[in-house]
Amino acid sequence: MIDINHPNIHPVPNADHANRYPPGYQTAFNNSANSANTPLSPVAEAIVRVQDLYKSFSRGNEEIVVLQKLSLNVARGEFLALMGPSGSGKTTLLNLIAGLDQPTSGSIFVADEEISAMSESQLARWRTRSVGFVFQFYYLLPVLTAYENVELPLLLLPLTKEQRKRQVLTALDLVGLANRRDHRPGQLSGGQQQRVGIARAMVTDPTLIVADEPTGDLDSKSAVEILNMMEILCTQLNKTIIMVTHDPHAAERAQRTLHLEKGRLVLEQDKKQTARVAGSDFGAISS
Ligand SMILES: Nc1ncnc2c1ncn2[C@@H]1O[C@H](COP(=O)(O)OP(=O)(O)OP(=O)(O)O)[C@@H](O)[C@H]1O
Ligand SMILES: [Mg+2]
Repeated sequence: MIDINHPNIHPVPNADHANRYPPGYQTAFNNSANSANTPLSPVAEAIVRVQDLYKSFSRGNEEIVVLQKLSLNVARGEFLALMGPSGSGKTTLLNLIAGLDQPTSGSIFVADEEISAMSESQLARWRTRSVGFVFQFYYLLPVLTAYENVELPLLLLPLTKEQRKRQVLTALDLVGLANRRDHRPGQLSGGQQQRVGIARAMVTDPTLIVADEPTGDLDSKSAVEILNMMEILCTQLNKTIIMVTHDPHAAERAQRTLHLEKGRLVLEQDKKQTARVAGSDFGAISS
């Protein structure tokens, strides 16, 4: 059982986890060692590359520009926070990077695949295997158990029932909820439901995990538990996480925070609170 409050937690890898995971997962675990202390973002290691992104929506005859001339990179294994006032375009940006929407112009590469050039059906297939989603209000199906909720994304992949079971149990184990596998969301606290949400996001071993205000509906203790867990995903499993948040305490847990205002990146802060005002691209920029 994982005690997520324990500061020295090392939930993986152990022999049991390694044996239960399919090859992709073992690779993720085995590659995790370098993530914690690797300097962020030499350009070759950028897993997300966004260049000159514009996004506008049409409302009647009016065109509303939501994101403009936005460039950023995210390193593999990085925990990145996105902050900014309501309406500044955070969710729009997250949705574009997660392949839920297409830019008006500009390019988005994730792990060297240009998702901004994909058709809708290609994008849907890419999302299934490459992105895990964590939502503010969990979006667990109330009639399904924790196990069944976590299993859902795997039903879209060509896996046997036994393979699915291994991955679901490992994911539930990692979030410390293996003993709640048969509980429905209504029988779990908000914090526990969000832990199920995290298990569901990582069960496919995605390239990228995106979280839109994942602690926005939680009390402070549950929020800390969720942030501990997200940190572990990055530092120990080398997962890349982009988290939108309004909470400065949540953002402090990320390695880097980008601030948006009116659809532009205006400030970049790293963990040591070194701030950089916009003027060039953010992150993983070689210049
Ligand atoms: N599908 C859409 N059609 C029209 N306008 C949209 C659409 N999606 C977003 N917008 C507009 O884009 C702007 C940015 O929205 P977005 O949801 O990205 O903001 P946000 O920074 O996530 O805000 P919040 O902190 O309130 O969640 C808003 O003005 C919003 O009305
Ligand atoms: Mg939003």
